[in-house]
Amino acid sequence: MSKIKVKLSNCEQFINKNDYKSIFSEIENALLLLENKQGKGNDYLGWIDLPNTISPLLLDDLNKTAKKIRSESKVLVVIGIGGSYLGSKAVINGLKGYFSNKGIEVLFMGNSISSTYISEIIDYLSDKDFSINVISKSGTTTEPAIAFRVINELLIKKYGKKASGRIYVTTDENKGALRKLANEHKYKSFIIPDNIGGRFSILTPVGLLPIAVAGFDINLLIKGAKQAYEYGDENIKNYVAARNILYRQGKKIEIMVNYEPKLHYFTEWWKQLFGESEGKDGKGIFPAGVDFSADLHSMGQYIQDGERILFETVLNIENPIKDYSIPITKDNTDGLGYIEGKSINYVNSKAMRGTIAAHIDGAVPIIEINIPSLNEQTIGYLLYFFEKACGVSGYVLGVNPFNQPGVEKYKTNMFTLLGKPGY
Ligand code: PA5
Repeated sequence: MSKIKVKLSNCEQFINKNDYKSIFSEIENALLLLENKQGKGNDYLGWIDLPNTISPLLLDDLNKTAKKIRSESKVLVVIGIGGSYLGSKAVINGLKGYFSNKGIEVLFMGNSISSTYISEIIDYLSDKDFSINVISKSGTTTEPAIAFRVINELLIKKYGKKASGRIYVTTDENKGALRKLANEHKYKSFIIPDNIGGRFSILTPVGLLPIAVAGFDINLLIKGAKQAYEYGDENIKNYVAARNILYRQGKKIEIMVNYEPKLHYFTEWWKQLFGESEGKDGKGIFPAGVDFSADLHSMGQYIQDGERILFETVLNIENPIKDYSIPITKDNTDGLGYIEGKSINYVNSKAMRGTIAAHIDGAVPIIEINIPSLNEQTIGYLLYFFEKACGVSGYVLGVNPFNQPGVEKYKTNMFTLLGKPGY
């Protein structure tokens, strides 16, 4: 069983026992509402049982497809935005070596409308063998649609009639322009179940295909998610309790903190999950993120001393993937004699403990999530843990965590400005 643990001892001085007691019954009710599928947005709860119900045949197909892509291409271009790319990017960046150029390169596209990015990726790909995984639940989102049209042109120039064999589509079973394209051109395609929204889709082919192509074990990822599914409720309740009590005290911003920059995109995934799920009806904790110790030299001042509306959730990786000793020198000119011979991770862990103590002194409560090490299983656990915590927390807040009506406004304005028919 996973040893991932939510630790609240660094919140104790900000939360009294009665606050806990009173919110726990709300949390139990929210959990029941979610599990019995009786709450708001209950037609989007297909992700809840996924760790237990995902079909071995689908996993097999995904693994075989990943192998084929790896054998044919040096680069996989993953096209998608929001929930259609952040999960796989989070997992791949979390697990891949910082400078590793082993195996296939996975690049992301269609998550902005940067003409510079698009032009540069086209140049970069022009002399490389590549395949495409285009991902869109609605099949109509503008950013990935533009990216697909552009990159498909390059693919056809390079491979002619064989281009379609390098296109892998992940979309709705029946609806949307992408499904139509996939059917017409007979692209190999995977289905995003109707009852799973984008930001909850990491354990569907949306996340699993790019992760498998990158060479990571999706079966282990699911195994980790299953541990959270079966045994994660205590952690979920503690996390949801602390963040909602703090929110009610006026702590409106939750900063996800890591001391391992590999987790930068994990934070981006979490920000989308909670931001899009909770930020509505004039309510919701604003999810922010920092990478320490780098951001201690930028955001550290505000966190220590700025407006007291913050709390932190620290992702503490207890054992690093690799460690290194600080060299011992004779002259100690750089003044590092007091830590020479110590491991870099030892220093990082003291930086973390020192920062936690300083921030508590500065009235910033800290929720700590202790993670034994970073691997497919622990990341799988965290993905499901945060998804379920987000659903429960949204219900405690009194919103529908599974819609995103606010996202439409910019689209309507943009389409009007672009002269899209019907706008
Ligand atoms: O969580 C969501 O539903 C959104 O963030 C979507 O993932 C995002 O807007 C992309 O949508 P689509 O997959 O339909 O292109």
